[in-house]
Amino acid sequence: LATLLPVLLAGYLLGSIPFGLLLTSLTGGGDLRSVGSGNIGATNVLRTGRKGLAAATLLLDLGKGFAAVWLARHMLGGDPAIGGLAAVIGHCFPIWLKFKGGKGVATLMGVALGLAWPIGAIYAAVWLGMLAGTRISSLSGMSAAVSAPIAAWALGYTGFVPVLVVLAVLVIGLHRANISRLRAGTEPKVGSKG
Ligand code: G3P
Repeated sequence: LATLLPVLLAGYLLGSIPFGLLLTSLTGGGDLRSVGSGNIGATNVLRTGRKGLAAATLLLDLGKGFAAVWLARHMLGGDPAIGGLAAVIGHCFPIWLKFKGGKGVATLMGVALGLAWPIGAIYAAVWLGMLAGTRISSLSGMSAAVSAPIAAWALGYTGFVPVLVVLAVLVIGLHRANISRLRAGTEPKVGSKG
């Protein structure tokens, strides 16, 4: 229990760094929240037309999820799944942005990779496969999030299943506006103007 607080705090603080927002404004791109969907993730950075910056956002948002798991496991001697949970919560509800953050897809990919690379590999494969097939980021991200607890269960990492179920539900909940657009047929595709 003594390790719980540092694991939660480190994970939350790491996760709450809004890389998409920071990179966009630091490079003179203004406030990402007034672009496209208003989200602070890599998909919305891509809508500013800067592919390199979008890739950097994806990697950094993924990296902080991975780092939170790694820190919990190797530095803090705590539960890596709780570290990952805190990181995704930090990304989605950052104190710096009045708790209005991103949707967790990239950070959860880093968490999945950190918990057990085969879970992360399935997550990445589902995400990339769906993205290639549909070119709809939200649908791809939600599918990948749902695949994580299923992959963990199927591969025998049953201890990670509860946290991954919670995170899949969280990621889907945060995509409410995307789900409405998907149902209305108005969700933009990656690469098209949206
Ligand atoms: O990771 C967020 C993605 O799933 C959707 O982003 O900007 O299309 O709402 P966006």
